[in-house]
Amino acid sequence: SSNEGTIVGRGFIIRNVKKEDLPKVIYINEVTLPENYPEYFYEYHLDNWGRAFFLAEVDGRAVGYIMNRIETVMGLSRSFFQKKGHVVSIAVLEGYRRRGIGEALMRAGMKSMKDVYGAKSVYLEVRVSNDPAIKLYEKLGFKKVRVIEGYYSDGENAYVMEREL
Ligand code: ACO
Ligand code: ZN
Repeated sequence: SSNEGTIVGRGFIIRNVKKEDLPKVIYINEVTLPENYPEYFYEYHLDNWGRAFFLAEVDGRAVGYIMNRIETVMGLSRSFFQKKGHVVSIAVLEGYRRRGIGEALMRAGMKSMKDVYGAKSVYLEVRVSNDPAIKLYEKLGFKKVRVIEGYYSDGENAYVMEREL
């Protein structure tokens, strides 16, 4: 199609982020999350794993994003080095939640991490108090695998959640 890689949901589309979209991604991040990053951090993920970096749009307005990366970790005997996907950051603007956008972003990210980048599993950190996000990840089959004490700058703990791809 003319819009390769675009997924059409109920009233929204999911497409890969382009460099000129980064101000919109940064805006969404800054109004939704206390974990904010310098511009070069977004550019680094876009340059390296751009096919796993997605934007959600409603009527042409950017309302959500997911930024991922691929890490190589030591696995078990058979394939010693394994690729693991890492959901670095996902957010949807408040007025656009609970209509499936977060789930669609997660599914697009996981598919790309698996099919494009060869990841065998995917993990993320999430605040232990972040019920909406934890529910989303559990719906997608993620399991809590451990707690990182004081992971966030305000001292809150993180769950590490993970699933196979
Ligand atoms: N309460 C309970 N369950 C919820 C909630 C909620 N508030 N929100 C989502 N869920 C679960 C439900 O199972 C839901 O399915 P259902 O609607 O059929 O019941 C499922 O998640 C999918 O919900 P979506 O509508 O796809 O999710 P949404 O578009 O609202 O986005 C998100 C979820 C991204 C967590 C959103 O709430 C958000 O942006 N929060 C602020 C930013 C944030 O916390 N990001 C995650 C930080 S951790 C990290 O980035 C790795
Ligand atoms: Zn992380």
